Amino acid sequence: MLMLFDLAPKDDASELFDRRKELEELHSAMERGEKLTIVYGIRRIGKTSLIRSFISEKEFLSVFLDVRQIYYTHKRTVPSEAVYEQILRGFTDLLLGLGIGADEQMGIFSAGENNITNLLSDINKWCLAKKAKFLLAIDEAQYLRFSRKVSYDGVMAWSLDNLRNVFFVISGSEVGVLREMLDFENTKAPLYGRFKNELLLRKFNDEESAEFLRRGFEELGCKVGNKEIEQVIGRIGGLVGWLAYYGHYRTTDKMGHEEALERIFSDGSKIAMSEVGDLIKKSKDRYMAIMTAISKGMGSWSGIKAYTVGTTGKIPDSGLDMLLSSLIRFSIVEKDSKGNYVMADPILKEYLSR
Ligand SMILES: Nc1ncnc2c1ncn2[C@@H]1O[C@H](COP(=O)(O)OP(=O)(O)OP(=O)(O)O)[C@@H](O)[C@H]1O
Ligand SMILES: [Mg+2]
Repeated sequence: MLMLFDLAPKDDASELFDRRKELEELHSAMERGEKLTIVYGIRRIGKTSLIRSFISEKEFLSVFLDVRQIYYTHKRTVPSEAVYEQILRGFTDLLLGLGIGADEQMGIFSAGENNITNLLSDINKWCLAKKAKFLLAIDEAQYLRFSRKVSYDGVMAWSLDNLRNVFFVISGSEVGVLREMLDFENTKAPLYGRFKNELLLRKFNDEESAEFLRRGFEELGCKVGNKEIEQVIGRIGGLVGWLAYYGHYRTTDKMGHEEALERIFSDGSKIAMSEVGDLIKKSKDRYMAIMTAISKGMGSWSGIKAYTVGTTGKIPDSGLDMLLSSLIRFSIVEKDSKGNYVMADPILKEYLSR
């Protein structure tokens, strides 16, 4: 059976490579009764896999919501009705799984307006009676900001204060945008001062990455030399999503080493660019110039400025600051330990520096 190199998010802890500490952290937070955990991490680092694996252990009732999917299936909006429907459907499925049929379910949901707070309140009431915990996992939660009617930070704050058995795990790949949306530091914002657990998923280090590849090949009975593994890690680093691609190309698609690497860069850069494209479309040329400068190794502010002016013309300092900080909010660019700007994704970096 194909496991580590499967390109879909993992949904079972037994399929997950490492992340033991993170899983444990999620479990103990639930046990301690801490109701809000946020999982941050750039694209393809394994957020969805971690959360799905966590909830698959079924120690509590849970519903998994992918807000990015709602956003794209509803013409780039997030209708509260769709969010409501998905939570309701998820929960009634859970009840069915427990042998609680439609008739009996009628008694669980109070009459009254169909809105998310009422629904969570009904779920909480039922869970209290059954001594069960309910976890709502909201993946790519930063897309909730496209909701026009409901302020979800308010809903969550209300739930944290009032619903004893409702827990949240929130996650998102645009780390800065998610932080802004949750707005914990703002004294006037609903979630201000609330207790939260924060988990930042990191890239695997070289050793872990090598182990991931070795184990993946081993699972499939393939032999791959250390030199090749070293080369892969040297070029794509510890982003598990890309490592899985490499393994997938080598095994399922039966490519050689060079070809698989080349394919990651040709296909991967298309994928990564299309994801980024949506975020940078408002000032595409300048964003591209900035990302290109950083990819080419210009890590300082002045270096980036010089390159950007050279390619797209004059730009005020404040304008450059704004674009740079947006790239950081979207988790496309990061600052390294020396304060230099670097690209978060090695594939994008190589593509843009060519
Ligand atoms: N711990 C892990 N062990 C094995 N494979 C993993 C692990 N984490 C992630 N993967 C693999 O890496 C890829 C990306 O994982 P996943 O979709 O969970 O990441 P993500 O952070 O949710 O990405 P995105 O931001 O694009 O939604 C998938 O192929 C998944 O199977
Ligand atoms: Mg995901």
